[in-house]
Amino acid sequence: MDLGLADRTYVVTGGSSGVGLATVRALLDEGANVATCGRDADRLARIGSHDRLFTAVRDVRDADAVREFVTDSADAFGGRIDGLVNNAGQSRMKRLDDTTAEDWRDELELKFAGVLNPLQAARKHLAASGAASVVNVNAVLAKQPETRLITTSAARAGILNLSKSLATELAADGIRVNSVCLGLVDTGQWTRRHAAADSGLSYEDWQAELAADRGIALGRLGRAEEVAYAIVALLSPRASYITGTSIDVCGGVGRGIL
Ligand SMILES: NC(=O)c1ccc[n+]([C@@H]2O[C@H](COP(=O)([O-])OP(=O)(O)OC[C@H]3O[C@@H](n4cnc5c(N)ncnc54)[C@H](OP(=O)(O)O)[C@@H]3O)[C@@H](O)[C@H]2O)c1
Repeated sequence: MDLGLADRTYVVTGGSSGVGLATVRALLDEGANVATCGRDADRLARIGSHDRLFTAVRDVRDADAVREFVTDSADAFGGRIDGLVNNAGQSRMKRLDDTTAEDWRDELELKFAGVLNPLQAARKHLAASGAASVVNVNAVLAKQPETRLITTSAARAGILNLSKSLATELAADGIRVNSVCLGLVDTGQWTRRHAAADSGLSYEDWQAELAADRGIALGRLGRAEEVAYAIVALLSPRASYITGTSIDVCGGVGRGIL
């Protein structure tokens, strides 16, 4: 099936690693133009060059820098932006008693600025697209909080709520807004935690223990490409009647029925 993404332009934040990188690659494979950002220039450079790829070193928390990035992205590809993937970010492994007021502020800022800064910067381009789609990369934590990730769980719930409001508010401009809610996906987030845990287990054995401990129905962590598939499907103009919803990509770790 032709997903109708070729020659359209998509902005993916945090495309130098994990889910963002897999999404960048999937979109390039579909013939789309892609713009992406991250904070580390070396990591961005490792994506490699491509005539339909634009990259810039930007922090999504910096509204001015994001505005400049989005303008440059549109300029790089004929003035259009057809979709936005708000992916950049990371989680904060802390319980209530370890969490400072600064942690709460930083976490809420990252999660909300990570959606609102790119969206506000790209809004006028999206409204002109005729087939605009925004995908917010979220977590099952939004619906199933974990006390070991207390700030991230609360911020994720807020972003899921915000996504619903944005879908309603932006429908008049022809902009669809959806979310993907991740369980545990094998990316830099988990390789860093494996290194920090210093468990003496190989990464494979550590992952298998993790999957069993967290009760992942499919018995393994997800792959970034498996998430990118859902993101690309939601970006596609073929998903033209899907807005205001979220898809769990979590191997069955989500226990909710809604
Ligand atoms: N992997 C999981 O199990 C999991 C589960 C639930 C939700 N998620 C969410 O999924 C998204 C992608 O995570 P991932 O697992 O693919 O992580 P990852 O491999 O660590 O990739 C994160 C990407 O975001 C970029 N980034 C981080 N903070 C940024 C900032 N302030 N401004 C611009 N770019 C920034 C990183 O580049 P730089 O560091 O160079 O900036 C990198 O390109 C995140 O929002 C994460 O919270 C992941």
